[in-house]
Parts: sequence; C-alpha cells; structure tokens
Amino acid sequence: MLILDNVCNFAARFQIGQMRQILSFFATMLLFFFSADNKVMADVPPNVGKTLIVYYSYTGNCREIVTTLTSQIEADVVEIQPAEKGLRYEANGYALGTELLNAINANPDDINSYPAIDPVSTSLNDYQNIIIVTPLWWSQMAAIMQTYLFQSASQMAGKHVGMIVSSHSSSISGVVRDAKRLLPDVTWMGEALWINASNHSKRASLIENWLGTQDFAIEQTTMDKMYITIDGQNQSVTLENNTAAKALVEKLQQAPVTVTLNSSGGFEIWGSLGFSLPTSNQQINAQPGDVILYNGSNICIFYGTNSWSYTRLGKIDGLSESELRSFLKAGESNISVTLSLQSDATGINTLSSSRIKDEELYSLNGQRVSNTSKGIYIKNGKKVIL
Ligand SMILES: Cc1cc2nc3c(=O)[nH]c(=O)nc-3n(C[C@H](O)[C@H](O)[C@H](O)COP(=O)(O)O)c2cc1C
Repeated sequence: MLILDNVCNFAARFQIGQMRQILSFFATMLLFFFSADNKVMADVPPNVGKTLIVYYSYTGNCREIVTTLTSQIEADVVEIQPAEKGLRYEANGYALGTELLNAINANPDDINSYPAIDPVSTSLNDYQNIIIVTPLWWSQMAAIMQTYLFQSASQMAGKHVGMIVSSHSSSISGVVRDAKRLLPDVTWMGEALWINASNHSKRASLIENWLGTQDFAIEQTTMDKMYITIDGQNQSVTLENNTAAKALVEKLQQAPVTVTLNSSGGFEIWGSLGFSLPTSNQQINAQPGDVILYNGSNICIFYGTNSWSYTRLGKIDGLSESELRSFLKAGESNISVTLSLQSDATGINTLSSSRIKDEELYSLNGQRVSNTSKGIYIKNGKKVIL
C-alpha cells in the first residue's frame, strides 16, 4: 500500500513537473518572440547590403524613430549635429528656423547658404543603403539635415536611399522635393514614410510595414577568383579588378564556360571564348600564368612571355613555369578548358563577402544552418523570417 502510495505520489509529482516544464517552455518561447530586444525582422531580405541610418533630431522625435528602426533592422547610425550649439530654432515664432530655410531657398547651390554642421567621420563607402530620418520644418527638410545631404550628394550617388520624415502634422511632399533636389543621383528605395504627432506612438508597426515596401540594395560581393579545369585538374585564378573580369564573372555566374584552346607561339594556349567582354587594351608584357583577353573575345593563357596589346583578366595562382606547361598542355591542340566560379576540389563557391559572418544563420534551437527553407532563423542574435 505504502509502495503504491509512493508510486502514485511520484507519478503525480512527475506529471506536475512535466506540466511545469512544458508551461515554462511555452512561456520562454513567448518571451523570446515578443521581447523588445528580439523583434522579428519580417520584411527586410536577409542578404541586403550594409545600411546606414543618418538622422537629425532637434526635439527628440526622430531620435525615437531611429531607436525603433534599429530594433528592426541591422544598421549603423550617424547623428548630424549643428556646429553652433544651443540654438533655439523655434523661438520668436520659429524665426531662426525660418531664417535658415530662407537662406537655403535663396541660394540652394551654394554651400555657404547652409548652416554649418559638425564634421561627420563615417564614410559612406561601406554602405549600399542609407535611410535618412529628418524632421520637417515649415514643410521643408530641416536645414541641418539639408546641409549634410548637400555635402554628401556625390558620395551617396548610386546608393539606395530611403527616408522617414517626422512632422507635427504637415504633410511631407516638400521634404521629399528637397531630398530629390539634394540627392539627384541616388536610387530611391520607395515612398518616404511620414510619421506625425498623432501616429508617432504607433511608429513600430508603421516602420515595420514601410520596411517591407522598400527596395534595399542587395549586398555587394566581391568575386576575385575563378577556376580553370583541364583534364580534371583544377587551378584557381586571381581575377583583375576591371570591367572585363567582372563581365566574365557575370557570365560564369550563369554557368561554367568550356572552350577549346590551341597552343601557339611557344608561349600560350588560346582560342575563342564564344562571347565578347569589354576591353581596356594596353601594351602588356604577358608572363607565365597570365590569363588575358585578346581582341575582346579570345582568351590567352600564358606559359611563356609575349608583349602585345591585351586586357588582363587574371593570373593563375601558385604554379611554376614548368607546372604551368604541364597543366596547360603546352604544345598540344584542341585542349578542353573549363572556366568556372566553382572549385571542383572543395565544392566551395568563391563568392567572398565582407559580411559573410553576419550572414550566418542559426535555427531557433541554436544549430548552424546553411540550406535554409522558409522559416524563422536567428541571425546576429536577432530573429529573421526568410
Ligand atoms: C523650426 C521648426 C519648424 C517646424 N515646422 C513645422 C511645420 O511646418 N509643420 C509641422 O507639422 N511641424 C513643424 N515642426 C515640428 C516638427 O516637424 C516636429 O515636431 C518633428 O517631430 C520634430 O522632430 P525632432 O523632435 O526629431 O526634432 C517644426 C519644428 C521646428 C523646430
């Protein structure tokens, strides 16, 4: 009887214990999903380039917007500060704010018309996406932010730019007009987001929805290797940083290319690529290992030397002259040569990325994953939906 009692007690305790464990598991999952630090980043594609948020805030609303924004996307942040501190733009019926804008409007192409700002040390070179967060002043862009955009227009050229405008109640078309005037050469990610006094408290959902409408630039990657395969032997080639090599990479991204090359002149194997690449010909003293474009549509791979007007494509890595002769089948004809971005030896694609570590994904139970299907993953400690 005692034994039976003990068994029943244990069974009851075990069930309660299990129930507790299950409940605590669900509570943890709920906390994980809804805690402020772990926002689900629903709408930003996972392979976007680096993003910089540039903001100015006089009374703090844009700063709050930026805090909300950075809880939803990975981005670096730069705050623009006026050089002259302690000014009250709103004093005397907004007299100073009005004066600054009038000066810009009178002479918008002259840097002296813009109020001075503190120097910004962050270089825009690293960023493909820029989000501007600015207040509206008298239906225009706040003068301080205008200064920064006027100064940075050339560095921003070609970048994807989005904008969030904060006003009390005025609509933002004038600010959009200012932004387009100041940044004529950017790609706008989509419509600007307007946050005003009546919806500022709902900014988290406004921003999340808006992010989903924005066209972020895909991460810029550098392809600096291709592979040459002859008779099953695979050699890496370090590519030149020029338009011909980039165009070749683009071609190889679609599929490997196999060409038939012939030995010639006692220094190279060469033949038609079957397509043309952009040339930047100059007199070159080609050396063993050089991979060269000749006449725009022929590839020459050197095991000896020759001086001619060529465009460099790259150089075979780490083979001596005699190893090159053997690898390239020097002296032979009809040599089948495959160019690709894939190393057969490792199966590892040569796509190299400055942010490859950031791209590492983990399942919710902490397992590193590579071939992802749709679902929720952890990236940089935050959840992302793919
Ligand atoms: C000089 C100045 C002019 C402003 N003009 C307007 C305006 O014309 N319409 C409006 O709705 N809000 C106007 N505002 C209010 C700001 O746009 C609004 O408070 C915004 O949220 C401020 O952002 P911040 O707190 O980041 O500085 C003005 C503010 C200042 C300082």
